[in-house]
Amino acid sequence: MSDKVDFFIRKFQELYDREPEHARYYCPRPYRNAVVRFRHCRMKTCEERRQIVEANHLNVFFFPSCEIPGCDLLSDSGTTTMTTEQWSLLFLGDEAYGSNEGYFELKEQIVETFGDSWKQEKQAENMFLFHQGRAAENAFFTVFSGMLVNGKQIQKTSLSDHLDPVLRERIEKKIDTRATSEGQYFIVPSNSHFDTTEANIENNRMIPLNLRCDEDMNKDETYPFRGNMNIRELRNLLENERDRVPLLYLTITNNTGGGQPVSMANIKEVKQMSDEFDVPFFIDACRFAENSWFMKQREEGFRDKCIREIVHEMFGYADGFHISFKKDGLVNIGGGLVLKEGGRMLQKYPQLRSSLTDYQILTEGHPTYGGMAGRDLKALAEGLRTVVHMDYLDFRIGQVKRFGDRLKAFHIPVVTPIGGHAVYIDMDEFLGRYQTSDGDYKYETDTKDEDFKGISFSALLLIAGHRFCELGLYVFGKNREGREIPPDPRANLVRAAIPRLAYEDQDLLAAAEAVRVLYDHRDRIPAVEVLYGDERLTLRHFKSRFRFGE
Ligand code: F0G
Repeated sequence: MSDKVDFFIRKFQELYDREPEHARYYCPRPYRNAVVRFRHCRMKTCEERRQIVEANHLNVFFFPSCEIPGCDLLSDSGTTTMTTEQWSLLFLGDEAYGSNEGYFELKEQIVETFGDSWKQEKQAENMFLFHQGRAAENAFFTVFSGMLVNGKQIQKTSLSDHLDPVLRERIEKKIDTRATSEGQYFIVPSNSHFDTTEANIENNRMIPLNLRCDEDMNKDETYPFRGNMNIRELRNLLENERDRVPLLYLTITNNTGGGQPVSMANIKEVKQMSDEFDVPFFIDACRFAENSWFMKQREEGFRDKCIREIVHEMFGYADGFHISFKKDGLVNIGGGLVLKEGGRMLQKYPQLRSSLTDYQILTEGHPTYGGMAGRDLKALAEGLRTVVHMDYLDFRIGQVKRFGDRLKAFHIPVVTPIGGHAVYIDMDEFLGRYQTSDGDYKYETDTKDEDFKGISFSALLLIAGHRFCELGLYVFGKNREGREIPPDPRANLVRAAIPRLAYEDQDLLAAAEAVRVLYDHRDRIPAVEVLYGDERLTLRHFKSRFRFGE
């Protein structure tokens, strides 16, 4: 079995020994490196890295980052290289316990970045700070679901007969009978919830429901806004189950669906539904600047607008948003939740504000710092200023595309159009999965779903010196009574998420070459054996252990 790994080590070595090609183009970039960080450990050989990979049971999360000489593309979250302006602001941080300078600067910056409609009008707070995005989600859904449960009861116990059968099936699959006695459950629809949002919704006994647009479901590679919400399904849900839907949601860009953007037209339609059915509308805003860049490039009427104007318009439609600042905040830590004064959420649930403050004080700290240091707030305000610059965004999203295009040039199947923060490799296509004439699915390579080759692919890439992450059959699949159940709808991807301002094109092109080696010899990628994690382990990918198999 180790022969297969040895084979790849030889191939990676050949790659490193090869005379490098000259870069074929010159790509101007809007920054120059001003700070350098050396690794604390000696650079290892592939064989040595193999030992570290195996000692860490092939789990990419356990692999020490200093042992990655190539690109660490595990996440674009919190991995940003801050600018020297941000670093200098860290020294100017005001660490007062109450109402530090950074808090006021950030408050002003939130209005500057997201628009005047986010101004605080009353004495009471409308911006809630947290140490990261999921802490904001946890606070929001804990408080909000408590209010719903204490509010009016849902009259009907069963779902309406007019509900689209596809939606009914999806909802019924998610109903946990212990949590939702006598049909008393709420549904939170979205274009696609991120997994932490989904978990926070479920944890509060509500049902997250993803309504992906048809073009995305049909893998339409020409469609410019594959992150859009399915408006037809949303209307059907609201017409039939309005009482169960306390909130509409959009994640921009849609991380789970490949970093795909949402169009302004779609946002307006969701807003229109929100008005028509009187349901508040929230945005998960992690990659708001990247989404706005796509609108400027691809949507009629936005070409001549600057990013700031586009962001203002987009957020003008929402009643609230939460954000992990670890993405488009251009910082390494931080999250927030902002409620719109006069928006539908605060009108309907005015007590939300004080309940959130109570929860925040209990779990994070005073609202004027909420889980962050004063210095972090200053760096964040600066990050929000930088992230909307066109030069930055052109280079940033262009870099992700150049990397994806190089993979495509090597015939590696990636989700297209290429998204804003990451390139997603489709492992089903990579391994040649196809439908037979009698409707079954097979692979051209000697592969079964339970081989979890996305995991071995990532482990082999680590040996080559780059870190990607499986987001497919293992992460989203479930093991029930010893049987593996693939995710529904099926997703079998490996993600390369590009940290902001951290790598040059040539670094990423080196990672693309390593992927090419794996693709050219895909029939030799070994299966993995799951040593720990195949019983009902929650969030199993973070904790699982594997070894290379056949
Ligand atoms: N929402 C979206 C769309 C996200 O992508 C993430 C995190 C979160 C919420 C949660 O934020 O990590 O600060 O708690 N995404 C990271 C990723 C983890 O790698 O995609 P967090």
